[in-house]
Order: sequence, then structure tokens, then C-alpha cells
Amino acid sequence: MLVIIDVTHWEKDEHNAIFPVGARDKEMIWSPSYASEEIKPHWPHLFKESIARYPDQYWTELVAYIVSKYLGVDVPKVYPAIKHTQEGIVCGSLIEWFYDVNTERHIPAGSYFKKRIPDFDDKTGKEHNFIDMDALIRSFSQYAALSTPRLQWLSDMALFDALIGNTDRHQENWGIIFLPDCTCCLSPLFDNGTSLGHERFTENVRDWDKHRLTDYVMRGKHHLRFKREEPKKRIPHFEFLKILASKNTATKTHIQKKIDNLDFDAMIVEIADLIQIKTKIPFTQARFEWIKKNIELRFELIQQHLRHDND
Ligand SMILES: Nc1ncnc2c1ncn2[C@@H]1O[C@H](COP(=O)(O)OP(=O)(O)OP(=O)(O)O)[C@@H](O)[C@H]1O
Ligand SMILES: [Mg+2]
Repeated sequence: MLVIIDVTHWEKDEHNAIFPVGARDKEMIWSPSYASEEIKPHWPHLFKESIARYPDQYWTELVAYIVSKYLGVDVPKVYPAIKHTQEGIVCGSLIEWFYDVNTERHIPAGSYFKKRIPDFDDKTGKEHNFIDMDALIRSFSQYAALSTPRLQWLSDMALFDALIGNTDRHQENWGIIFLPDCTCCLSPLFDNGTSLGHERFTENVRDWDKHRLTDYVMRGKHHLRFKREEPKKRIPHFEFLKILASKNTATKTHIQKKIDNLDFDAMIVEIADLIQIKTKIPFTQARFEWIKKNIELRFELIQQHLRHDND
């Protein structure tokens, strides 16, 4: 059973105490050397609050992490956390740093997109597109000893984002990690809180039937566009998977294996367990029901789309 981690006394990072990037309040803090069993000792973590209008959003990051474990895709570890402040208790997700800050360096993909594409619009990322992303990753394989298998990483991303309905995998939400041995790898899939219908208030969606939910889910799009010349056409989640699967048999097999190996029921049980955790802003039964309905339908639609990937 997960417990809430109290980070009140964790040390703030001297350079990045308050994080300048993104829409939500967050800080980089260091775990103590005696932290609980699971927590990596003396290691940086990101404490990330919910967006003010969605106070229970921080659970989404944790649910996405649970999904990633069952799917077998690389996502930094997430724990539910609190900190005591003068204004009272603040809830948030605590996310393990995904690289060693002393020996490794993470460069967000946005830096490379800006070099590649003149006048790249980094506010909307409307030129963030699959063709350039693929070319960029290929060039790291060719010239910078990239150790991550390109097609597997791409299909893991497309599958994971389709299953959680992530609309926010923009150019700052993936990147390249440079290692001391002069190789590099692609980052794990971080920043997964803008997903799983977090923006819907549960009282408004409680009565949605399957038809209404399908309509909502089918409108979901990835952040990526297919090509640079079509900045207004974000790729629908399930289309993206279909495109990847139809390009290459090994990719299709990789995706299908992940789907076949997913223990869906055990995953739902682990997500349901979060309801038991007592904290100021709990994971409610209603939030669980909504997320469960979403993932069930998404899983069904993924399977359907893959069966028809040649249509
Ligand atoms: N686990 C992590 N390890 C190392 N760096 C991280 C980690 N999580 C996030 N970062 C860095 O911090 C930046 C901001 O974090 P993140 O993307 O999670 O929040 P955000 O973009 O502000 O999200 P939101 O828009 O939902 O508020 C990322 O772009 C990335 O460079
Ligand atoms: Mg981000």
C-alpha cells in the first residue's frame, strides 16, 4: 500500500528550488539519505502541484505512472506527496529525477526543433511534428551513439499516450540525455498529468453513456502533427498508433505484444487502491470511476484500430 511522502523537510536544490518552466508550481528537492525504503536516497525529485482549478490533478501523474508500469514503458517513478507550508498542507506528485545531475545532461527536444526549423513557435509548438522528430532521433543514432531503439521508443510513446489520452507530449516533454561515456539515450516519458480526462469535473461526466464518452475520446489528439507543413493537424491518438504499426512489422509486433501482456485487471486494482490513501485532497471513488471508464474504452479502441491498421 502506498503512503504519502511528506517532503516538508527535504532540501531545496540550490539552483532550481523554484522551477521556471511550465504551468504548474513545482520545485526540485533532494531526498534525505535516510528516506523510506522505496525512495532513492539523496536524489533529486520534482514536487509538482496541481493546476489551481483542478485540485486533484496531481493524482493523474501517479495513475499514468501505474499504467506505464503495466504497459512496460519507461516513465519516472511517481509518489503521492504533501508538504506543510504557512498556508497549510499542499498536495502534489513527487517524481524521481530521471538522470544523474552530476554526470549527465538532459536537453529538451525543443532545443533541436528550434535549430532545425526557422521561426519555430515554441509557445504553441505547432511545428512539432512526427517527420522531424523521427529524423532527429535517426540523426542521434547515426552521429551521437544513441542507445535507445528508435522505433520501440516511438511506439511506446504513441501507445502510452493513446492509452492515457495525453495531449501534452510537446517538444519540452521529451528529450535526449547525454551520458558521461559519450553515448546518449532518449528520455523516459515524463510530464503525464495532462491526460486521463483530468480536466473534467466528475459531477459533470458521471452520467455520460458510452456513446458520449466515445465521442470525447475519439476527439483526443496527440500534440504531434504529422508533418511540418500541416501545423493545424494534430494526429488523433489512435491514428498515430495505426500509422506506426502499418509502417513496419517489427513495430506492429512490439505494440501488439505490449497490449497482449498488459494485465488490465491488476492495473485497475492498483489504481483503485489509491482511493484508500487518506490525505487532504484524496483520490475519490468518482475520479476513479471516470478514469477507469476512460482507460477501458481507450484500450478497446486501441485494439480495434490495430486490427484494422491496413484500412
Ligand atoms: N523527473 C524529472 N527528472 C528530471 N527533469 C524533469 C523531471 N520532470 C520534469 N523535468 C524537467 O522539468 C521540466 C518541467 O517539468 P514538467 O514537464 O513535468 O512540468 P510542466 O511542463 O510545468 O508541466 P505542466 O505544464 O503540466 O505544469 C521538464 O520540461 C523537464 O525538463
Ligand atoms: Mg512539461
